[in-house]
Parts: sequence; structure tokens; C-alpha cells
Amino acid sequence: MNKLLVSLVLSLGVAGTAQALPGDAEAGKDKVAMCAACHGADGNSMLPNFPSLAGLGQKYLQKQMLDIKEARRPVVEMTGMLDALSVQDLWDIAAFYDSQTPKPGVANADAEVLARGEAIFRGGNLETGLPACTGCHSPTGKGNDPAGYPRLAGQHGAYIAKQLTDFREGDRTNDGDTMTMRTTASRLSNKDIEAVSAYIQGLR
Ligand code: HEC
Ligand code: HEC
Repeated sequence: MNKLLVSLVLSLGVAGTAQALPGDAEAGKDKVAMCAACHGADGNSMLPNFPSLAGLGQKYLQKQMLDIKEARRPVVEMTGMLDALSVQDLWDIAAFYDSQTPKPGVANADAEVLARGEAIFRGGNLETGLPACTGCHSPTGKGNDPAGYPRLAGQHGAYIAKQLTDFREGDRTNDGDTMTMRTTASRLSNKDIEAVSAYIQGLR
């Protein structure tokens, strides 16, 4: 993260304004006992509907937990679980999961679907005004932590597909006033979602 932050700062020429994110991974490690059943002890989940959290980005993870806690992003499976956690606890947990190593994903779709997914991920669609995912989530899919763009590479395809559908249908609105992902997903057909999600799952 720090290297990325430094290079970003240098390339933008705004040295001096950047600050380290406030999470403490060591402290976070002691606060995640009840999360492991669904998200895995090291943030690599075994079940396709439960997102892996390893390496997603500290800033993104903290924002999602705050949004889940304050019901801007309803997650019924997590009802009440974050209630007793302070804002600092959420930063610590975010730092812990961000510091874990994501397990490489395995693609399980046929070549045609994956090719369609790759074309969307890397090129978007000029006709429909769909931006390439790489612009924000990076060409390797590792995301951009300081900007709050989550890692996607290796995430369960079923989870990605659900999120894109939720963004498109207005069931996930916590991307905020900028509506970045709601606008992006509104330009994806069901087939596009299936293809790009399958591609992301196998992306390393
Ligand atoms: C019973 C299962 C379950 C448990 C236990 C659980 N979660 Fe979750 N969590 C989920 C599900 C399901 C989602 C995704 C819901 C959706 O589809 O949007 C999620 C989403 C998340 C996300 C957002 C991930 C992303 O990629 O946007 C974070 C962060 C998170 N959980 C953290 C935690 C933490 C921290 C704990 C423990 C305090 C925890 N969860 C406990 C099921 C669980
Ligand atoms: C202009 C920047 C931008 C572009 C382009 C973009 N995204 Fe995103 N994406 C974001 C941001 C910001 C978030 C986090 C939203 C939030 O804070 O809740 C996000 C979140 C997501 C999530 C949720 C991840 C999770 O763990 O729950 C998925 C899935 C996703 N994007 C897929 C895509 C795909 C697929 C494309 C290309 C078709 C794409 N994005 C293009 C900025 C972008």
C-alpha cells in the first residue's frame, strides 16, 4: 500500500497531503474471531456467496463495514455483528484483512465467456459508454487502496455477479452520490455480468 501511495502522490504532484491510513493490523487480528466462519480465518472465504476480504484495500474495507454497520448497505447475514465495534476497530479489522494474502482464483467458465469478460474488463464498450474496469480497478485487478477502489482479482464470480446486479437494480446504493458503480453496472447486460464476473474470478 505505502509504495502505491507514494508513487501516486509523486505522480500527482501533491506530496505532503497524503496520510497513512489509521488501521493497525495486529490489533485487528484480535477482533475477527466471529468473522472467520464466513470470510475465512485469513480473509479467503470458501463459499461463493461470502466475499473474500484478503487484500481488498484498507480504505474500501473500512468504508464497507461502516456502511454495513450503519445500514447504508444492508447485509442480513451480519445483522448486529458490527454494533459493538468502534470506528477505530473497523480500521484495525480493515488493516488486518488488507494485509492478508489473497488466494489466486480459478476460472471455471468456457473460453468464449472468458474472452467476452476480458474484453469488457480491459476495453469497456464504446457504444454503450461502459468504461473499462481497469481504469479504476487496475489492469491486474488489484484495485487502488488510497482511492478506495477495491481489489477484484480472484474474488468469487457468484459474489461479483450479485454485486453488479445489485448496483444495477438499485439494491446496492452505498457507492454514494458519485454513483460510479450504479452508472457502470447500468450499462451491463446479464450476459456481460456473467462474463466479466467469470473473468474476474480467474484473474491473477
Ligand atoms: C454469517 C456469515 C457472515 C459473517 C459471520 C460475517 N459476514 Fe461479512 N459478509 C457476509 C456476506 C454474505 C456479505 C456480502 C453480502 C452481499 O452480497 O452484499 C458480507 C460482506 C462483508 C464485507 C464487504 C465485502 C466487500 O467486498 O464489499 C465486509 C468488509 C465484511 N463482510 C466484514 C465482516 C466482518 C468484519 C465480520 C465479523 C465481525 C463479518 N463480516 C462477519 C457474511 C458474513
Ligand atoms: C470510475 C471508477 C470505476 C470504474 C470504471 C469501475 N469501478 Fe467498480 N468500483 C468503483 C468504486 C469506487 C467501488 C466501491 C464503491 C463503494 O465504495 O461502495 C467499486 C466497487 C466495485 C465492486 C464491488 C466489489 C466488492 O468487493 O463488493 C465490483 C464488483 C466492481 N466495482 C466491478 C467493476 C467492474 C466489473 C467494472 C467494469 C465494467 C468496474 N467496476 C468499473 C469504481 C469503479
